Amino acid sequence: MNVHDSEKMSGILKGEGYIEVDSAQDADLVIFNTCSIRQKAEQKFYSELGRIKELKKRKPGLTIAVAGCIAQQEGKNILKRVPYVDHVMGPQNIHMVRDILKSNINRIAIDDNPLIADTELPVERKDEVRAWINIMYECNNFCSYCIVPYTRGRERSRPSSAILSEIKGLAEKGYVEVTLLGQNVNSYASDISFPQLLKAVDKIEGIRRVRFVTSHPKDLSDDLIAAIRDCEKVCKHIHLPLQSGSTKILSLMNRKYEYNDYVHKVNKIRKEIPKIAITSDIIAGFPDETVEDHRLTIKALHDIEFDGIFAFHYSVRVGTSAATMLGQLEDSIKLSRLNEILEVQNDISERKNKALLNTLQEILLETPNEKDPQKMSGRTQTNKTVSISLNGKHRTLKPGDLLNVRIIKANRHSLDGIIEEGPN
Ligand code: 5AD
Ligand code: SF4
Repeated sequence: MNVHDSEKMSGILKGEGYIEVDSAQDADLVIFNTCSIRQKAEQKFYSELGRIKELKKRKPGLTIAVAGCIAQQEGKNILKRVPYVDHVMGPQNIHMVRDILKSNINRIAIDDNPLIADTELPVERKDEVRAWINIMYECNNFCSYCIVPYTRGRERSRPSSAILSEIKGLAEKGYVEVTLLGQNVNSYASDISFPQLLKAVDKIEGIRRVRFVTSHPKDLSDDLIAAIRDCEKVCKHIHLPLQSGSTKILSLMNRKYEYNDYVHKVNKIRKEIPKIAITSDIIAGFPDETVEDHRLTIKALHDIEFDGIFAFHYSVRVGTSAATMLGQLEDSIKLSRLNEILEVQNDISERKNKALLNTLQEILLETPNEKDPQKMSGRTQTNKTVSISLNGKHRTLKPGDLLNVRIIKANRHSLDGIIEEGPN
């Protein structure tokens, strides 16, 4: 979400005549687009901000703006605490970037923006074949650990006509993969439902793959499962954050489902779409999590066998309801539980990857890494990265090509393959 917000700010600034430079040393304007989902992200920002202070001393004309969730949270406190920051702009106020940079009086833009879903902004995309598309903004769920509903505000869905015409425009420019973005795409509520939107995107000529993030398990419907199954271009992958294997903890987290409901939904998905990959998010060491609750999460990992997970230790976010719950755990306990979760999942991911050895997989070739332009890689429909040996074909291959590759090596977090067929 933040990466795409940055692409929008770049789009607006490009329209104003700004050009992007590689380093802050060469810049007239530096915008920090910040994340506050966990403490680590916040710390990273504050240490970057400390570093820029010296630059501002040497280059007094340098303008510094703070955008994103920390900007929203701290508002004018940032200007008080960090006098060398010039502007502050929350995630709902990206459209203000142009005006705010021109104003020495109104240096803060953090108001609620009810028009966010109806405002079309220029986008300067970083990738030439894969694109992020907002289908909705913000979140209404108030999971008890999460700062997002406080920093990003209320959920608002974009009209389907705007989404579809943006994607058609991208297809005409040569984009082949789109990822539909929302904090909880399953509660997309506009003129049509999310499954209907997927079906409409599936029909757009030129688009070859459709992905979406993130799905909240409580809102995952049978219609959505059927749409993923039936839409040819919709990738057979769903990111479905479980967070904990303990129903007691899920309730404290305000997730609004029990562990058994989650398993029931996973079984349904796998029955309808046997080859689907399911990935998840897990939080270790939530307040009041006992050894038994933690064991239930470990058991869930063994029972469900996700293709991959993102796991985090619980991070206290001031202002959320979990921050003041009793039973906050020591960091050492949270970290040792997190490590166990990661170890268990590593083995499962490796085993799942090994099962793909010798199979044929379709990958979509990605833009080569600037640091290593000789190496190419792509993702399977199920979102697994495959590095390929080029077989002398590299001159004819380009990002966005679909290739059939044979998997010859399975690592824990990636696969190696050789091209058998394609571009298709
Ligand atoms: N502490 C740890 N992890 C968190 N997440 C969100 N808030 C917190 C927090 N306070 C995780 C959740 C969510 C993912 C995007 O980040 O697992 O699904
Ligand atoms: Fe945060 Fe829950 Fe909303 Fe996800 S669904 S953004 S975890 S409040």
